Amino acid sequence: MRCLGIETSCDETSFALVQDGRLLAQVLHSQENLHALFGGVVPELASRRHLQTMPGLLRGLFQKTGLTPNDIHIIAVARGPGLLGALLVGLGLAKGLAMSLHVPLVGVNHLHAHLLAPGLEQQLLFPALGLLVSGGHTHLYRIEAADQFHILGRCLDDAAGEALDKSASLLNMPYPGGRHVDQVAAMAEPDRTLLPKPYLDNQNLDFSFSGLKTAVAHHVADHAHLRLPKLANTSEILEWARTSPDFRIFCASLNWTITETLRIKVERALRQAGPVSSLIVAGGVAANTMLRQTLARTAQQWRIPLILPNPSLCTDNAAMIAYAGLLLFEKGWMHGLDLEAFPRGKPIPWDYSFRENVPINA
Ligand code: KG4
Ligand code: ZN
Repeated sequence: MRCLGIETSCDETSFALVQDGRLLAQVLHSQENLHALFGGVVPELASRRHLQTMPGLLRGLFQKTGLTPNDIHIIAVARGPGLLGALLVGLGLAKGLAMSLHVPLVGVNHLHAHLLAPGLEQQLLFPALGLLVSGGHTHLYRIEAADQFHILGRCLDDAAGEALDKSASLLNMPYPGGRHVDQVAAMAEPDRTLLPKPYLDNQNLDFSFSGLKTAVAHHVADHAHLRLPKLANTSEILEWARTSPDFRIFCASLNWTITETLRIKVERALRQAGPVSSLIVAGGVAANTMLRQTLARTAQQWRIPLILPNPSLCTDNAAMIAYAGLLLFEKGWMHGLDLEAFPRGKPIPWDYSFRENVPINA
């Protein structure tokens, strides 16, 4: 069975074809350069760019695979959380295609799709503890199956990725700065007392990174020499890192503080959430080198496998949407053409209908 995945929830436009759980091909356009100058994603511009990019990108996917729209059996689309306008662009296309090709439509929770993504490359083991760390979310789940996610904790304000990106932009690194912090952090030992580890003095599994962001703002204001002289590109950042030991140490300390905060809550969740067969870590920040190494040690101590997508599947992509859609459809779930989009912060209802006797042309 072949599923077309559509991802337009934020600033990546992407399409992918997944067949029987394996990725056939993916195309992706990142809007990073468009938004970099603004220090974050501008929703209106993101929607317009999705609209402009989609036709050529989709044509490219079919050229790449030698397939045609008639070879699609299911359409899966990211239906939230994300930027509402951006999601609606993807949903509009998904509905048009589903209607004209007479194929079923499956709306996919973007966060769940992140956590299922490693299943494209390795076997997923349930029940799992899932840590989703992205630009907009930091969530902990107990995952019983591809269609059973129970939320254990969430970010109450800024997500881990947001804290990284906003800190990076205070240092004059372009948006999104997470991967630059990652690169520079590898060049120094962290100072483990430089920044406060936020929101640990409690027994819950929620996260709050806004205090860390404020601490970074104060520290950078008091230590102006840490800042790059102007908004910099990758090679200028690395050059600055080579010549400024304080900058290297600051990035390593920031990366360590976020990693350590996540590790502590993951261990707390492993103690509280009952036995699990694996730890899954996904989302853009799961590409972070220090986080991957640290949680690998944690998983080893708990004697469970750590399931990580390879870094290219960590950030937003349509392969994960197609894969999650296929898993849901195989379990019998699908949507009607009245499928709705949900912006960040609004709970996504379980509004699937159960498939009975829907003819599939596979
Ligand atoms: O999942 P994602 O692509 O988009 C959202 O759904 O938010 O995640 C984007 C986030 C950004 O905050 C970006 O800085 C972060 O992932 N990110 C990283 C790395 N690569 C991307 N953070 C730390 N280290 C990285 N290597
Ligand atoms: Zn994402």
